[in-house]
Amino acid sequence: MPDYKLLKDQLKAFLDTDPFYVPAMSNASALLWEALPDINWAGFYIVRGDRLVLGPFQGKPACIHINRGKGVCGTAWAEDAVQLVPDVHEFPGHIACDSASRSEIVVPLHDAGKNVAGVLDIDSPLLARFTEEDRAGLVQFAKELEARIYW
Ligand code: SME
Repeated sequence: MPDYKLLKDQLKAFLDTDPFYVPAMSNASALLWEALPDINWAGFYIVRGDRLVLGPFQGKPACIHINRGKGVCGTAWAEDAVQLVPDVHEFPGHIACDSASRSEIVVPLHDAGKNVAGVLDIDSPLLARFTEEDRAGLVQFAKELEARIYW
């Protein structure tokens, strides 16, 4: 289990230096990529108009646009709810950017008005890779990020 307290402290240090979304999300995805075992993608999608656009990430090149309500990321946005998906093949409309992905967690990020402004997306090649502890740690990580970041 990664040390989510340490990860949040590391994120805070990056945000103290510059909370602009490009360096903040870039280093946030790098922190997660280094700390979480058995993942094949970690990064962000940002709300732009009526769809999500690819943001900073670690992993293979990924889909650039995702419509609201589509796939796991678009569903997290539309429902404003964390999506913890143990088997992506069972998720209706899952968008397979990388056919190796088997499980996934997506956490919404909010702007100051509490609207969803982006999502954190982490994928794994293992079935049921993400636990309730991961959910809790990543929600705290996302809260720190959304509270400090500027878009
Ligand atoms: N699997 C995602 C698409 C994004 S990639 O995994 C990076 C989805 O269904 O939302």
